[in-house]
Amino acid sequence: MSIRFDRVSKSFGTKRVLDEVSFDVKTGEILFILGRSGMGKSVTLKQMIGLLKADSGNIFVDDQEVTRLNENQLAGVRQKCGMVFQHPALLDSLTVFENIAFGLKTPQFIKRQGGPLPSEEIQRRVQQKLSLVHLSTDVLERFPSELSYGMQKRVSLARTLAPSPSYLLFDEPTTGLDPITTNAINDLIHDLSKKLQVTSIVVSHDMACALKIADRVLVLDQGKILAHTTRAQLKLSKEPLIRDFLSETLALLPPEERAEARAEVTAT
Ligand SMILES: Nc1ncnc2c1ncn2[C@@H]1O[C@H](COP(=O)(O)OP(=O)(O)OP(=O)(O)O)[C@@H](O)[C@H]1O
Ligand SMILES: [Mg+2]
Repeated sequence: MSIRFDRVSKSFGTKRVLDEVSFDVKTGEILFILGRSGMGKSVTLKQMIGLLKADSGNIFVDDQEVTRLNENQLAGVRQKCGMVFQHPALLDSLTVFENIAFGLKTPQFIKRQGGPLPSEEIQRRVQQKLSLVHLSTDVLERFPSELSYGMQKRVSLARTLAPSPSYLLFDEPTTGLDPITTNAINDLIHDLSKKLQVTSIVVSHDMACALKIADRVLVLDQGKILAHTTRAQLKLSKEPLIRDFLSETLALLPPEERAEARAEVTAT
């Protein structure tokens, strides 16, 4: 069971964003999709859950071929694939509790469950997800506007986790966050993936984070896959774009980490 792209192409007007792209995501791994702005990273994620339709090729989520599904069937795929958007996108008029519980009350979830969950079970699940993202129950009755941006991101993650998806899709989870919150969110993605044994796909610009927590890294450029490899192999890549990415990443590291990382990256 996993996600697989088989010769997927997508154009907008005359611009070919993905050109016969094929890759697979192994069960339980953290796959980072890296690439410059506009190279089709978000388009790739959106196609996985049918928010955008591929022009040609096949996309498999487990045994389902996503490009052939109708909206009703896609709702089932979206139950399995929890998407965490770049901005928290919480419902401002609902409390944190209600936001996290939201996905446990949708018709699709109730259908999958075979009936509505008792309110004590909803309560239990909300608290469990809240603790997974390291927030205390004090925030449950607060509204999103009363929380910091980093806390809102955690709530948004808890909300995505509530219906227990098999896959977590993150689109730029740390863009716009300060370095400390960025580290905390990255650690959280790593710990959640390993603890809950979900398969995670993380779209990012953040090579430093990919080098820290990714099992494999996919680099998209000009419609093609430039690299699809383990993070250890990525450090040895000879592709000029990847070398550029790596040296930029090194320059941003604190001095005490830089020397060691540079030694690894240039050990080819
Ligand atoms: N719905 C759409 N309609 C028209 N063009 C689109 C649409 N979605 C994406 N594109 C175009 O497809 C290309 C790839 O977009 P995408 O959002 O996947 O880039 P990205 O790699 O995620 O970039 P960024 O790092 O800036 O988020 C861009 O040129 C974008 O303008
Ligand atoms: Mg994007």
